[in-house]
Amino acid sequence: MRPEHSDMMQKDCVRVAVRVRPFNKRERDAGSRCIISMIPTSITIQDPRDPQNRRSFCFDYTYWSHSGFTQDTRGKYLPEDAGGRYADQDSVFLDLGEGILENALQGYNATLLAYGQTGSGKSYSMMGYGANKGLVPKLCERLFESIRENQDSRRCQVFFSMLEIYNEQVIDLLSRGARAAAGLRVREEQHRGFYVEGLRTVPCENSQQVEQLMEQGTRTRTTAATHINANSSRSHMLINLQLKQIFSKESTTKQSNINLVDLAGSERQRSSGSEADRLKEGMAINLSLTTLGNVISSLADVAVGKKVVHIPYRESILTKLLQSALGGNSRTVMIATLSPADICYEESLSTLRYAERAKRILNRAVVNESPTERLVKELKAENARLLQRLSRLGPEGRRASDETKELRQLLTHNELQIKAIQTLWEQHLQEALKDLEEQYANITKERRMMQMHPYILNINEDTQLSGVVKLFIQEGEWDVGLSDSSPRSISIKGLGIQERHAIFRNEQRRVTLSAVAGSKVVVNGSSVCQTTELQHLDRLILGSNCTYLFIGFPSDRGGDDWSCYDYDYFQAELATAEGIHIESSPGSSQTDPSLLAVFYDYIKLMPMVTEANQMSQELHKGVEFKLEIQNLALSDSKGHDLKKDIVVRVTTLGNKQVWMWSKAKFINRKFLMEEMYQQHQAEQSEDSRSKGFPAVSLSRDQDPFWDPVEPLLLGTAHLWLQTLAFRIPLEEQLEVLGSEGTEEAILQAQLVPCSSTGLPLIEDDILIDPSELLGRRLDFQLVLEQCCGLRWIREAHNRGVQIGFKLFDCSQPLYTPAAWHNMNPVLDHRVHFASVQTSQSLLDYLQSSAVLLELWGLQEGCAELTSPLDEMRMTSEGVFIIDKTGQTDTATLNCELSSSFRVLQRDLEEMKSLNSLLKKENQNLREQLNAPGNCYIIVFVDFALGGRSVRPSCDAEFARALKVFYHSMTSVRGQLQRLRRHRPSEESDLLGLRFFVDEQGRLLKDFSEQLEECVTKLKQDVAAIVRRKREKSEIYL
Ligand SMILES: Nc1ncnc2c1ncn2[C@@H]1O[C@H](COP(=O)(O)OP(=O)(O)OP(=O)(O)O)[C@@H](O)[C@H]1O
Ligand SMILES: [Mg+2]
Repeated sequence: MRPEHSDMMQKDCVRVAVRVRPFNKRERDAGSRCIISMIPTSITIQDPRDPQNRRSFCFDYTYWSHSGFTQDTRGKYLPEDAGGRYADQDSVFLDLGEGILENALQGYNATLLAYGQTGSGKSYSMMGYGANKGLVPKLCERLFESIRENQDSRRCQVFFSMLEIYNEQVIDLLSRGARAAAGLRVREEQHRGFYVEGLRTVPCENSQQVEQLMEQGTRTRTTAATHINANSSRSHMLINLQLKQIFSKESTTKQSNINLVDLAGSERQRSSGSEADRLKEGMAINLSLTTLGNVISSLADVAVGKKVVHIPYRESILTKLLQSALGGNSRTVMIATLSPADICYEESLSTLRYAERAKRILNRAVVNESPTERLVKELKAENARLLQRLSRLGPEGRRASDETKELRQLLTHNELQIKAIQTLWEQHLQEALKDLEEQYANITKERRMMQMHPYILNINEDTQLSGVVKLFIQEGEWDVGLSDSSPRSISIKGLGIQERHAIFRNEQRRVTLSAVAGSKVVVNGSSVCQTTELQHLDRLILGSNCTYLFIGFPSDRGGDDWSCYDYDYFQAELATAEGIHIESSPGSSQTDPSLLAVFYDYIKLMPMVTEANQMSQELHKGVEFKLEIQNLALSDSKGHDLKKDIVVRVTTLGNKQVWMWSKAKFINRKFLMEEMYQQHQAEQSEDSRSKGFPAVSLSRDQDPFWDPVEPLLLGTAHLWLQTLAFRIPLEEQLEVLGSEGTEEAILQAQLVPCSSTGLPLIEDDILIDPSELLGRRLDFQLVLEQCCGLRWIREAHNRGVQIGFKLFDCSQPLYTPAAWHNMNPVLDHRVHFASVQTSQSLLDYLQSSAVLLELWGLQEGCAELTSPLDEMRMTSEGVFIIDKTGQTDTATLNCELSSSFRVLQRDLEEMKSLNSLLKKENQNLREQLNAPGNCYIIVFVDFALGGRSVRPSCDAEFARALKVFYHSMTSVRGQLQRLRRHRPSEESDLLGLRFFVDEQGRLLKDFSEQLEECVTKLKQDVAAIVRRKREKSEIYL
């Protein structure tokens, strides 16, 4: 229907509302802080890392749903105090829902979009949960109420449709037939704009019917999600209500389209991580959301008068279908939902910015009114008048006759149209009623079955889709799997589900589950191979990740609360079985938030890794994925055991090539794998599951399972620098530890304080007080002698290694040359570093830090690591200059170097003269010895050289004692690190744990003995030095 009256056209902005939800369990556990504050129509967000940094935004509506609420007996959230600030579902509806309804009844198109990150409350606001009904069901209720109230003045027809866009495919959620493999097509017609071809639109007479349809839609969405392995938070859901109002008195019809859109989690729109991946973001998965962002930006620019050549509506399915909602003929409202937690700061800020842009968009809404019946009447009258004129006028009448013909045609066309609409509506209504009756019968049957039989209930990552599918286990034996050929089979579709996957037996009021050979069945976190008896509320995972809760016989049920068995519960249980779990430290109720974050990351990625493995297997990719927890202490130069992170180890099954993917990279690749898998499934369904299919063809550069080989960080070792501050040499055998604490190799390394020409210093150069170094030159060499027992090479001989290290303020790491095919390669690598004018910060660094020695694994075909020497400061003798703050420029450096060269030359001259003096003395001695009747003469040579006296002093003794002390402290530190890493084995039972505790006790005892010994030795040495000093002074007195 075309808008008739241009004067009704109004420019109006997209209205934007923002809502903040309560903390969820994860956020509460992590002790999150709320960073959002609100006053009416204004919202402020605070940067948790910089509390002074606050940003405020103004919107049409703001809803505080974070605190100040209570729950009634039905579970409905209400404000704690009457008139409190808490915004419940009713108050949100009052502003937004009523407005949309009002617009629709006036004949405007209306759109409501929910935007926000996953879990921020989009579906809660749109659809609602349980007693907390959302905008959509409330809107439907009120719509039909209003229709009833006004039935005297108008006849109304309501059509309902519901679809999902996932991966640029349209899925009809109300479809009765089999789903088209490639989804439905979006077409364009001049007068209609974009529409989905073949989408089922169902006429409805009351809100119960609509609710029933929504239930059906959610069920289809759930099965589609498990079937194509999609995650609902990555799909967009569109509900469309078409309202036709026929006003008999005024002889007009009004038609409006109400679009209600629950968008995919907004975090998908941004890059999934800061670091770039070789492959672009999951294209199709993000295309709709990205394009929506671009359309909104362009329209916001148009609104402020910028010249915009092109608005990219046509670039994605979502924007095609929302074209009229954005910048077109619609009154549009966006509700942006936010998490209140500090950990979501980036996402929430980005949501607010997005919403701010959206509010600038100008729409041109018009009343879609068509004066059909009035036109018919007018036409009839005109007709009669013209006919009369025709009979009166001769030749002139011919023109009028043509006009009449035209008018008559129009008249018939209109009458036919009206009739068609009416009959179609009645026909559709009949069909829909029949359907609904059938559905109602099914629901009643399902309710009856629930009271009679045990069943399994689906649990989904998206709470909206949990508990939707119920599969009953009636008496006897039931096959579960892809196959639905026999009447005694329960059909389940999903990744990793076999044709015949498992068998349920319901006999003598017991239900057992047996896995069919080769299929994966997990009960309460543990894999089962044997027949297992199921208990009420057992958790089942079939295949990669089809999660179900077992509901026992009605007599076993009682009034228990099942809500705690959510998706996180299943994954946490699985992680516990793998030895990953979170315990709060004794005496404190709260777990370390950073550990919790790692734990939640782990349980989030765990099912994704299982799915990636399954896809790799089905697509014959020969790649295996494994989650690893990386200890970041290994890459911290102070060795603090601060943080852990999750990485995914990727290994090719054949030639054992290895990659390490960051969490963000893995998530991105997983999206791409899903796209590939979905394409493969579409191809396969056309071949109706033909056996043995080729891998989906994608060039290697675009294959998400593939990456070029690259050096891999295998592990690190810490070489502590403290001794350098005293100019004491250090020789160490270091354990190179992998990210999971495994010993990757032993590395022999040395730190050698030396002269500027590289000559090792002597004992007497040892400093008692490191601050003596301040402002002076310090030279030392880092020597990497040998690497022993390389696990990397032991596993595959065609590999190599390199060691990388970066010192203090060096901008780039340095690498040893590559050593290939050798488990114990001799490296013999020596690097000379110098600080021209030692600064306090270098001194602090030396005293508190270690140089991190990184062991890099090389694989066949990968480029070796090279040091970008041009970015380093180096003297012509190959000495690397560190501590650039301690000197100002090259001129100073050159000046320093030449002055030290002069000192050296002077030293050389002095040495030469000393040498000749000694030679002379030697000659004398020899002569005296050879002389007959000789006697020993003690000759005292005073090595007084240029004011510096080399003498066996207390200082030297003290320095020696210190050297011993630092050496032994290094081994004590090693022992401490061993203790930190010492963990019980994952499979440990009680006995194993007892053994572990004994072992830990022994290590602790060793540690305290070693420490005690070191300190005692130092005390003794110092006491002896003091005693000797006293004795000497007494002698001389
Ligand atoms: N205003 C609110 N009051 C109480 N609970 C809420 C509110 N908003 C959201 N929640 C709860 O938070 C959880 C996540 O909300 P919801 O399912 O609406 O997220 P979503 O934005 O739709 O996420 P996704 O993108 O994954 O679909 C639900 O358990 C819901 O009950
Ligand atoms: Mg949702």
